Amino acid sequence: MTAPREMYLEIRNLHVYYGNIHALHGVNVDVGKGEIVCVVGVNGAGKSTLMWAIAGVLPIAQGAVLLNGARLPAAPHEIVNLGISLVPERRRLFSALSVRENLIMGAMRRKDKEGIESDMERCFSLYPVLKERLSQRAGTLSGGEQQMLAISRALMSRPMALLLDEPSLGLAPLVVESLFATILKIRDEGVTILLVEQNALQALEISDRGYVLQTGEIATSAPSAELIENPLIRKAYLGEDA
Ligand SMILES: Nc1ncnc2c1ncn2[C@@H]1O[C@H](COP(=O)(O)OP(=O)(O)OP(=O)(O)O)[C@@H](O)[C@H]1O
Ligand SMILES: [Mg+2]
Repeated sequence: MTAPREMYLEIRNLHVYYGNIHALHGVNVDVGKGEIVCVVGVNGAGKSTLMWAIAGVLPIAQGAVLLNGARLPAAPHEIVNLGISLVPERRRLFSALSVRENLIMGAMRRKDKEGIESDMERCFSLYPVLKERLSQRAGTLSGGEQQMLAISRALMSRPMALLLDEPSLGLAPLVVESLFATILKIRDEGVTILLVEQNALQALEISDRGYVLQTGEIATSAPSAELIENPLIRKAYLGEDA
């Protein structure tokens, strides 16, 4: 699986704009090797903006994203080459292509044919249904299967860190539960995870530490087990009375 490479991701004082809309106001997040870190926040808080900025898709106006102390390059493909791979919100699969073709696209920048085949097998051991659907068009898969494929496609670049943008979106609670169980497995196989979610409870349940993002700023951060117990968090994000 993943070679034991160093991995410490630091998001430092990150500011991102859309034109004159100031979407992120000095966000700080740390992700250590082997952790699952979640960033929870409501609709429009800036979660996807954070992910796109780390992945190099959106320009950083101020601040930086550091990997082992060095600034990430600006180009998205170079960031993938360094071992950071994004699973975007709403999956963004190649819907007219087959499951197999989508997986191959994820390995596009790799030349090691044998490694690619063995990583494909690794995806099938995580998600056996994908093997049954290999020649089926991605657009015809169920929502849960599409998310499995999106995660698998990202794994095909052999990342040391996965950025997961709202993997639970549009999925039934039971499907989310089994999908999140595979996120734990992926971490246990050595891949560090940064997860952003509106689905705060389930994200906090599987993560080690959590950050709460509110209108582009980190409002609070703590071990996830503490955040789950925090009455203000329960009221704001878990729909409970304080
Ligand atoms: N392309 C864009 N142009 C202008 N403003 C944008 C653009 N994309 C996002 N925004 C704004 O930036 C803010 C953060 O949006 P973002 O999509 O990062 O939120 P989010 O937390 O991912 O929300 P959701 O949970 O709905 O996915 C919002 O106010 C949004 O309206
Ligand atoms: Mg989003």
